[in-house]
Amino acid sequence: MYDIVARIMGSPVEEIKARLGVEEVVGSYLKLERAGANLKAKCPFHHEKTASFFVSPARGSFYCFGCGAKGDIFSFVEQMEGVDFKGALRVLAERAGVPLSHFRKEESDSRDRLFAVLEEATQFFEKELGARADARAYLASRGLLPKTSGVWRVGFAPDEWRALRARLAAKGFSDTEMFRAGLIKQSVEKKGESYDVFRNRIMFPIFDSAGRVIAFSGRIMGKESEGVPKYLNTPETELWRKSSALYGINRAKHKIRGRGFALLVEGQMDLLMCHQAGFENAVAASGTALTPEHLDLLRRFSENILLAYDADTAGEKAALRAVSAALQKGMAVKIAALSDKGKDPADIIAKSPAEFADGLKNSTHFVKFLLERAVARGATARERSRLVLAEVLPFVRDVKSAIERAEFAKDIAARLAVREDAVWEDLKKIESTGQQTEGGQKIMQKIKNSAFRVLAGIILWQEKLEAGEREVDTEKIKKDVGAVVAEFLLYLSAISADERVQHIFEAEARFGGGGALPKEVSVLLLHLEKEELERKSVEILNALTVAGRGGEGEAQRKELLTLLQSLRMRIEEIKRLLAE
Ligand code: UTP
Ligand code: MN
Repeated sequence: MYDIVARIMGSPVEEIKARLGVEEVVGSYLKLERAGANLKAKCPFHHEKTASFFVSPARGSFYCFGCGAKGDIFSFVEQMEGVDFKGALRVLAERAGVPLSHFRKEESDSRDRLFAVLEEATQFFEKELGARADARAYLASRGLLPKTSGVWRVGFAPDEWRALRARLAAKGFSDTEMFRAGLIKQSVEKKGESYDVFRNRIMFPIFDSAGRVIAFSGRIMGKESEGVPKYLNTPETELWRKSSALYGINRAKHKIRGRGFALLVEGQMDLLMCHQAGFENAVAASGTALTPEHLDLLRRFSENILLAYDADTAGEKAALRAVSAALQKGMAVKIAALSDKGKDPADIIAKSPAEFADGLKNSTHFVKFLLERAVARGATARERSRLVLAEVLPFVRDVKSAIERAEFAKDIAARLAVREDAVWEDLKKIESTGQQTEGGQKIMQKIKNSAFRVLAGIILWQEKLEAGEREVDTEKIKKDVGAVVAEFLLYLSAISADERVQHIFEAEARFGGGGALPKEVSVLLLHLEKEELERKSVEILNALTVAGRGGEGEAQRKELLTLLQSLRMRIEEIKRLLAE
């Protein structure tokens, strides 16, 4: 994909790659250690104790054995910063000192104008807040410190029809630009002038991952009143899509990774109060239920979500759909125990941060939350079973891990006082949501560990090197392996580009720099031969059990037995050789 992008843009990509080594870029985020020809670190994309994240300076790429993350400096920055390709390009171009003049100029210019007009508006609102003691007093009454509202650039939109528009016009922005940024509206009678979208509201700028303002959410000051929406959000624009943006992601992303989970809250005030109280991994899907796109963004930083939602909203359809999607993606979803009914995180924190912390500590898995909820609502045993069947089991089905599913089945059985196999039976009846079969996973594991795969990796790796640098004769290995397993060459030619990278990294990480490769290869060949002979032995044993007795059958049996005998002798011999 980068090649295409590079061509369109006259290749600042290649230029940047030439100037910045993968070692330098990755090294600025992680502590790298030498590992032969490569470098290694603890993977930033999943939680681990021992380093399985490898960086190859020679190939300009990275690969994690733990979670499979891989790519070059661009994809690294994309994943690390949660930005798109263009965002990564910008970051790296600046670092490399490569001007992006080749960028398709018009488009990027016009987007930049939108960012600029939103930035200008943010500054205007910030200044206005400074002039409004009542608005600041309101924020203070909610427990918000000036420092926090400063960090989040909270502002105020004055109670005038065209104050922002006039200010932006004076700064050289056109109505069209303001309109495209979602800051002004066309008046209904066309002849009238367009006017500001936000008036007389406390303004919360919404930032993208890189910290640029892309939209606003404006709250009325004080109590809610009839006919006036409490919050008003920027309508969807080129920069702002509700379904993918997460309020707070710009500041929370690194903390989410660091703490190993994302704390999800519902509103702006919740988010600000969480961060103020030190829960800096909090994000909010402002004004909408969590979507699969939000989940994909979050997953770049952690697989774990802790919902600090009102128990009532957590049970709403939209929230349940999001949880189900998260579970199916293999994410773990917990819900905080916020006991104070009707109070949200902002209220609880304003009263007592410790109480909120307790609520987080006492969080339960979402499935358990649903179970308790269903049990509490059912008056009779029959009713409880019905509720669990309808409301809880579909979520158990969504849980990806078989071990976890088993634990939930056990919990449910205990809670309903029924036999566990009754729960399993019901679970089987509920529609499957397309889980991976465990059998399939086992086969993958086997291939992964087989000598076959390792040998393929060694060949691909060595073939990448200059002929003079190779430690082994790859053509000979191909012949030797081919003699044992005829399909080997076919396998080698069918490996996809992605898989190829993975094979090479595995081989290089295991054998690079040790100098013992020829010896390792002969050991691997012996392993491979042994694996193959053992497989054949099993086939022969099977054939023996079906081969008939007497006459022709007897001759066949004899032949098979002799063959089996010789296979076994060779296996024993290999075992001896391997033991040396
Ligand atoms: P809440 O009603 O829970 O508001 O809506 P809140 O965040 O707790 O605000 P405070 O505490 O009353 O100040 C949760 C979120 O839903 C969106 C906003 O993003 C809000 O933060 N929302 C709510 C709207 O978009 N429009 C509305 O009219 C209300
Ligand atoms: Mn609130």
